[in-house]
Amino acid sequence: MRLKGKTAFITGAARGIGRAFAEAYVREGATVTIADINIAAAEKTAAEIGASAHAVQMDVTDQASIEAAVADAVAKMGHIDILINNAALFDAAPIVEITRASFDRLYAVNVAGTLFTMQAVARHMIARGKGGKIINMASQAGRRGEALVAVYCSTKAAVISLTQSAGLNLIQHGINVNAIAPGVVDGEHWDGVDALFAKFENKPLGQKKKEVGAAVPFGRMGTAADLTGMAIFLATPEADYIVAQTYNVDGGNWMS
Ligand SMILES: NC(=O)c1ccc[n+]([C@@H]2O[C@H](COP(=O)([O-])OP(=O)(O)OC[C@H]3O[C@@H](n4cnc5c(N)ncnc54)[C@H](O)[C@@H]3O)[C@@H](O)[C@H]2O)c1
Repeated sequence: MRLKGKTAFITGAARGIGRAFAEAYVREGATVTIADINIAAAEKTAAEIGASAHAVQMDVTDQASIEAAVADAVAKMGHIDILINNAALFDAAPIVEITRASFDRLYAVNVAGTLFTMQAVARHMIARGKGGKIINMASQAGRRGEALVAVYCSTKAAVISLTQSAGLNLIQHGINVNAIAPGVVDGEHWDGVDALFAKFENKPLGQKKKEVGAAVPFGRMGTAADLTGMAIFLATPEADYIVAQTYNVDGGNWMS
Protein backbone atom coordinates (compact mmCIF):
# COMPACT_ATOMS: atom_id res chain seq x y z
CA MET A 1 0.00 0.00 0.00
CA ARG A 2 2.72 2.44 -1.01
CA LEU A 3 0.19 4.98 -2.40
CA LYS A 4 -2.42 4.70 0.35
CA GLY A 5 -4.69 7.76 0.35
CA LYS A 6 -3.05 9.27 -2.75
CA THR A 7 -4.99 10.50 -5.79
CA ALA A 8 -3.75 10.11 -9.35
CA PHE A 9 -4.82 11.54 -12.70
CA ILE A 10 -3.74 9.31 -15.60
CA THR A 11 -4.27 10.34 -19.22
CA GLY A 12 -4.86 7.70 -21.89
CA ALA A 13 -5.61 5.13 -19.20
CA ALA A 14 -8.54 3.42 -20.92
CA ARG A 15 -6.19 0.70 -22.19
CA GLY A 16 -2.58 -0.43 -22.44
CA ILE A 17 0.15 0.96 -20.21
CA GLY A 18 -2.06 3.68 -18.68
CA ARG A 19 -4.62 1.08 -17.65
CA ALA A 20 -1.89 -1.06 -16.04
CA PHE A 21 -0.70 2.02 -14.12
CA ALA A 22 -4.26 2.70 -12.92
CA GLU A 23 -4.65 -0.91 -11.76
CA ALA A 24 -1.27 -0.90 -10.01
CA TYR A 25 -1.96 2.43 -8.29
CA VAL A 26 -5.33 1.18 -6.99
CA ARG A 27 -3.61 -2.00 -5.69
CA GLU A 28 -1.21 0.32 -3.84
CA GLY A 29 -4.11 2.17 -2.19
CA ALA A 30 -4.62 5.15 -4.53
CA THR A 31 -7.78 6.58 -6.07
CA VAL A 32 -7.42 7.16 -9.84
CA THR A 33 -8.97 9.22 -12.60
CA ILE A 34 -8.96 7.42 -15.96
CA ALA A 35 -8.84 10.39 -18.38
CA ASP A 36 -9.21 9.37 -22.02
CA ILE A 37 -10.57 10.62 -25.33
CA ASN A 38 -12.41 7.31 -25.62
CA ILE A 39 -14.93 7.77 -22.80
CA ALA A 40 -16.75 4.48 -23.44
CA ALA A 41 -13.52 2.50 -23.04
CA ALA A 42 -12.48 4.65 -20.05
CA GLU A 43 -15.80 3.98 -18.29
CA LYS A 44 -15.52 0.24 -18.95
CA THR A 45 -11.95 0.20 -17.59
CA ALA A 46 -12.93 2.21 -14.51
CA ALA A 47 -15.86 -0.11 -13.82
CA GLU A 48 -13.60 -3.16 -14.14
CA ILE A 49 -11.01 -1.66 -11.76
CA GLY A 50 -13.67 -0.85 -9.16
CA ALA A 51 -14.79 1.90 -6.81
CA SER A 52 -11.33 3.50 -6.53
CA ALA A 53 -11.34 4.38 -10.24
CA HIS A 54 -13.55 6.75 -12.19
CA ALA A 55 -13.54 7.85 -15.82
CA VAL A 56 -13.46 11.34 -17.29
CA GLN A 57 -13.65 12.37 -20.93
CA MET A 58 -10.55 14.30 -21.97
CA ASP A 59 -8.93 15.30 -25.24
CA VAL A 60 -5.38 16.41 -24.42
CA THR A 61 -5.27 18.49 -27.62
CA ASP A 62 -8.14 20.72 -26.41
CA GLN A 63 -7.37 23.30 -23.69
CA ALA A 64 -10.98 23.53 -22.50
CA SER A 65 -11.15 19.74 -22.26
CA ILE A 66 -7.90 19.61 -20.23
CA GLU A 67 -9.19 22.20 -17.78
CA ALA A 68 -12.63 20.58 -17.48
CA ALA A 69 -11.12 17.12 -16.91
CA VAL A 70 -8.74 18.37 -14.22
CA ALA A 71 -11.59 20.28 -12.51
CA ASP A 72 -13.77 17.17 -12.69
CA ALA A 73 -11.02 15.03 -11.13
CA VAL A 74 -10.47 17.57 -8.34
CA ALA A 75 -14.22 17.66 -7.68
CA LYS A 76 -14.38 13.85 -7.50
CA MET A 77 -11.11 13.11 -5.63
CA GLY A 78 -10.68 16.36 -3.65
CA HIS A 79 -7.22 17.03 -5.08
CA ILE A 80 -4.54 15.52 -7.37
CA ASP A 81 -1.28 14.18 -5.87
CA ILE A 82 0.06 12.43 -8.98
CA LEU A 83 -0.24 13.06 -12.72
CA ILE A 84 0.83 10.52 -15.32
CA ASN A 85 0.97 12.07 -18.80
CA ASN A 86 0.51 8.84 -20.73
CA ALA A 87 -1.78 9.58 -23.72
CA ALA A 88 0.10 9.49 -27.03
CA LEU A 89 -0.21 8.56 -30.67
CA PHE A 90 2.25 6.71 -32.92
CA ASP A 91 2.78 6.90 -36.66
CA ALA A 92 5.45 5.71 -39.08
CA ALA A 93 6.44 6.68 -42.62
CA PRO A 94 9.57 7.32 -44.66
CA ILE A 95 10.62 10.99 -44.58
CA VAL A 96 9.31 11.59 -48.11
CA GLU A 97 5.84 10.31 -47.17
CA ILE A 98 5.28 12.11 -43.83
CA THR A 99 2.11 14.21 -43.98
CA ARG A 100 1.49 17.52 -42.24
CA ALA A 101 -1.71 16.07 -40.80
CA SER A 102 0.23 13.25 -39.10
CA PHE A 103 2.93 15.65 -37.85
CA ASP A 104 0.38 18.13 -36.47
CA ARG A 105 -1.68 15.42 -34.75
CA LEU A 106 1.30 13.72 -33.08
CA TYR A 107 2.71 17.03 -31.87
CA ALA A 108 -0.73 18.12 -30.60
CA VAL A 109 -1.23 14.94 -28.56
CA ASN A 110 2.30 13.90 -27.52
CA VAL A 111 3.96 17.30 -27.00
CA ALA A 112 1.33 20.04 -26.50
CA GLY A 113 -0.93 17.57 -24.67
CA THR A 114 1.86 16.68 -22.26
CA LEU A 115 2.87 20.30 -21.65
CA PHE A 116 -0.59 21.76 -21.12
CA THR A 117 -1.81 18.86 -18.97
CA MET A 118 1.32 19.32 -16.82
CA GLN A 119 0.54 23.03 -16.65
CA ALA A 120 -3.09 22.54 -15.58
CA VAL A 121 -2.23 20.00 -12.89
CA ALA A 122 0.83 21.97 -11.71
CA ARG A 123 -1.36 25.06 -11.24
CA HIS A 124 -3.65 22.98 -9.03
CA MET A 125 -0.72 21.47 -7.10
CA ILE A 126 0.92 24.89 -6.55
CA ALA A 127 -2.37 26.43 -5.34
CA ARG A 128 -2.83 23.53 -2.92
CA GLY A 129 0.71 23.97 -1.60
CA LYS A 130 1.47 20.31 -0.92
CA GLY A 131 3.70 19.45 -3.88
CA GLY A 132 3.09 16.47 -6.10
CA LYS A 133 4.51 14.00 -8.57
CA ILE A 134 4.33 14.30 -12.36
CA ILE A 135 5.41 11.36 -14.51
CA ASN A 136 5.64 11.81 -18.29
CA MET A 137 5.71 8.89 -20.69
CA ALA A 138 8.71 9.24 -22.99
CA SER A 139 10.15 6.33 -25.03
CA GLN A 140 13.38 4.80 -26.19
CA ALA A 141 12.24 6.44 -29.43
CA GLY A 142 13.05 9.78 -27.80
CA ARG A 143 16.67 8.74 -27.25
CA ARG A 144 17.55 8.36 -30.93
CA GLY A 145 16.15 8.59 -34.44
CA GLU A 146 14.59 5.68 -36.34
CA ALA A 147 14.46 5.61 -40.13
CA LEU A 148 10.67 5.24 -40.37
CA VAL A 149 9.66 6.94 -37.13
CA ALA A 150 10.92 10.54 -37.43
CA VAL A 151 7.87 12.32 -36.10
CA TYR A 152 7.09 10.05 -33.12
CA CYS A 153 10.79 9.90 -32.14
CA SER A 154 11.02 13.69 -32.16
CA THR A 155 7.84 14.06 -30.07
CA LYS A 156 9.33 11.74 -27.44
CA ALA A 157 12.63 13.65 -27.48
CA ALA A 158 10.48 16.71 -26.80
CA VAL A 159 8.83 14.94 -23.85
CA ILE A 160 12.28 14.23 -22.37
CA SER A 161 13.21 17.91 -22.83
CA LEU A 162 9.92 19.16 -21.36
CA THR A 163 10.49 16.86 -18.37
CA GLN A 164 13.89 18.46 -17.80
CA SER A 165 12.62 22.05 -17.98
CA ALA A 166 9.42 21.42 -16.02
CA GLY A 167 11.38 19.41 -13.46
CA LEU A 168 13.74 22.32 -12.88
CA ASN A 169 10.94 24.88 -12.78
CA LEU A 170 8.50 23.03 -10.51
CA ILE A 171 10.76 21.49 -7.86
CA GLN A 172 10.66 24.82 -5.97
CA HIS A 173 6.98 23.94 -5.30
CA GLY A 174 7.81 20.41 -4.17
CA ILE A 175 6.59 18.99 -7.47
CA ASN A 176 8.84 16.25 -8.88
CA VAL A 177 8.68 15.90 -12.67
CA ASN A 178 10.31 12.78 -14.12
CA ALA A 179 9.73 10.49 -17.09
CA ILE A 180 9.75 6.81 -18.00
CA ALA A 181 11.20 5.68 -21.33
CA PRO A 182 9.84 2.22 -22.18
CA GLY A 183 11.30 0.12 -24.99
CA VAL A 184 8.92 -2.15 -26.91
CA VAL A 185 5.78 -3.00 -24.94
CA ASP A 186 3.36 -5.54 -26.36
CA GLY A 187 -0.33 -4.64 -26.57
CA GLU A 188 -2.84 -2.95 -28.86
CA HIS A 189 -0.47 -0.02 -29.45
CA TRP A 190 2.22 -2.37 -30.80
CA ASP A 191 -0.35 -4.22 -32.94
CA GLY A 192 -0.67 -0.90 -34.80
CA VAL A 193 3.11 -0.37 -34.92
CA ASP A 194 3.58 -3.90 -36.27
CA ALA A 195 1.00 -3.26 -39.03
CA LEU A 196 2.81 -0.08 -40.11
CA PHE A 197 6.17 -1.89 -40.30
CA ALA A 198 4.50 -4.74 -42.21
CA LYS A 199 3.49 -2.13 -44.79
CA PHE A 200 6.75 -0.19 -45.03
CA GLU A 201 9.20 -3.09 -44.60
CA ASN A 202 7.11 -5.57 -46.58
CA LYS A 203 6.89 -8.10 -43.72
CA PRO A 204 4.10 -10.46 -42.69
CA LEU A 205 1.97 -9.26 -39.76
CA GLY A 206 3.61 -10.22 -36.47
CA GLN A 207 7.12 -10.39 -37.93
CA LYS A 208 8.29 -7.00 -36.60
CA LYS A 209 7.14 -7.90 -33.10
CA LYS A 210 9.17 -11.11 -33.22
CA GLU A 211 12.24 -9.20 -34.40
CA VAL A 212 12.08 -6.43 -31.80
CA GLY A 213 11.35 -8.93 -29.03
CA ALA A 214 14.33 -11.10 -29.99
CA ALA A 215 16.57 -8.01 -30.04
CA VAL A 216 15.81 -7.01 -26.43
CA PRO A 217 18.73 -8.05 -24.17
CA PHE A 218 16.21 -9.34 -21.60
CA GLY A 219 14.94 -11.73 -24.29
CA ARG A 220 11.38 -10.57 -24.99
CA MET A 221 9.14 -7.56 -25.56
CA GLY A 222 8.04 -5.76 -22.43
CA THR A 223 4.58 -5.90 -20.90
CA ALA A 224 2.70 -3.04 -19.30
CA ALA A 225 3.25 -4.79 -15.96
CA ASP A 226 7.03 -4.45 -16.43
CA LEU A 227 6.62 -0.66 -16.11
CA THR A 228 4.43 -0.41 -13.03
CA GLY A 229 7.28 -0.68 -10.50
CA MET A 230 8.93 2.48 -11.81
CA ALA A 231 5.58 4.31 -12.02
CA ILE A 232 4.86 3.47 -8.37
CA PHE A 233 8.37 4.29 -7.14
CA LEU A 234 8.43 7.72 -8.84
CA ALA A 235 5.14 8.57 -7.09
CA THR A 236 6.39 7.76 -3.57
CA PRO A 237 8.32 9.95 -1.10
CA GLU A 238 11.34 7.67 -1.73
CA ALA A 239 11.68 9.51 -5.06
CA ASP A 240 11.53 13.03 -3.56
CA TYR A 241 15.18 13.78 -4.45
CA ILE A 242 14.77 12.66 -8.09
CA VAL A 243 14.24 15.68 -10.33
CA ALA A 244 13.94 16.12 -14.12
CA GLN A 245 15.14 12.59 -14.99
CA THR A 246 14.04 10.08 -17.62
CA TYR A 247 14.40 6.39 -16.69
CA ASN A 248 14.75 3.68 -19.31
CA VAL A 249 12.63 0.62 -18.46
CA ASP A 250 13.29 -1.46 -21.54
CA GLY A 251 14.94 -4.79 -20.79
CA GLY A 252 18.35 -3.33 -21.63
CA ASN A 253 17.50 -1.97 -25.07
CA TRP A 254 19.10 1.41 -24.53
CA MET A 255 21.74 2.74 -22.14
CA SER A 256 21.76 6.44 -21.28
N1 LIG B 1 3.69 0.37 -26.24
C1 LIG B 1 4.99 0.67 -26.39
O1 LIG B 1 5.77 -0.12 -26.90
C2 LIG B 1 5.52 1.99 -25.90
C3 LIG B 1 6.90 2.18 -25.94
C4 LIG B 1 7.43 3.38 -25.51
C5 LIG B 1 6.58 4.37 -25.03
N2 LIG B 1 5.23 4.16 -25.01
C6 LIG B 1 4.40 5.25 -24.51
O2 LIG B 1 3.61 4.79 -23.41
C7 LIG B 1 2.34 5.47 -23.40
C8 LIG B 1 1.21 4.49 -23.43
O3 LIG B 1 1.34 3.64 -24.57
P1 LIG B 1 0.34 2.45 -24.88
O4 LIG B 1 1.12 1.40 -25.57
O5 LIG B 1 -0.45 2.09 -23.68
O6 LIG B 1 -0.63 3.20 -25.95
P2 LIG B 1 -2.14 2.91 -26.37
O7 LIG B 1 -2.28 3.37 -27.78
O8 LIG B 1 -2.50 1.48 -26.06
O9 LIG B 1 -2.99 3.83 -25.39
C9 LIG B 1 -3.06 5.22 -25.58
C10 LIG B 1 -4.33 5.76 -24.94
O10 LIG B 1 -4.33 7.18 -25.15
C11 LIG B 1 -5.64 7.57 -25.53
N3 LIG B 1 -5.58 8.82 -26.30
C12 LIG B 1 -5.19 8.98 -27.59
N4 LIG B 1 -5.33 10.25 -27.96
C13 LIG B 1 -5.79 10.93 -26.89
C14 LIG B 1 -6.15 12.30 -26.66
N5 LIG B 1 -6.07 13.22 -27.64
N6 LIG B 1 -6.59 12.65 -25.44
C15 LIG B 1 -6.70 11.71 -24.44
N7 LIG B 1 -6.42 10.41 -24.60
C16 LIG B 1 -5.96 10.02 -25.82
C17 LIG B 1 -6.19 6.39 -26.33
O11 LIG B 1 -7.62 6.40 -26.41
C18 LIG B 1 -5.61 5.20 -25.55
O12 LIG B 1 -6.51 4.79 -24.53
C19 LIG B 1 2.40 6.42 -24.62
O13 LIG B 1 2.86 7.68 -24.21
C20 LIG B 1 3.41 5.75 -25.53
O14 LIG B 1 4.00 6.65 -26.43
C21 LIG B 1 4.68 2.99 -25.42
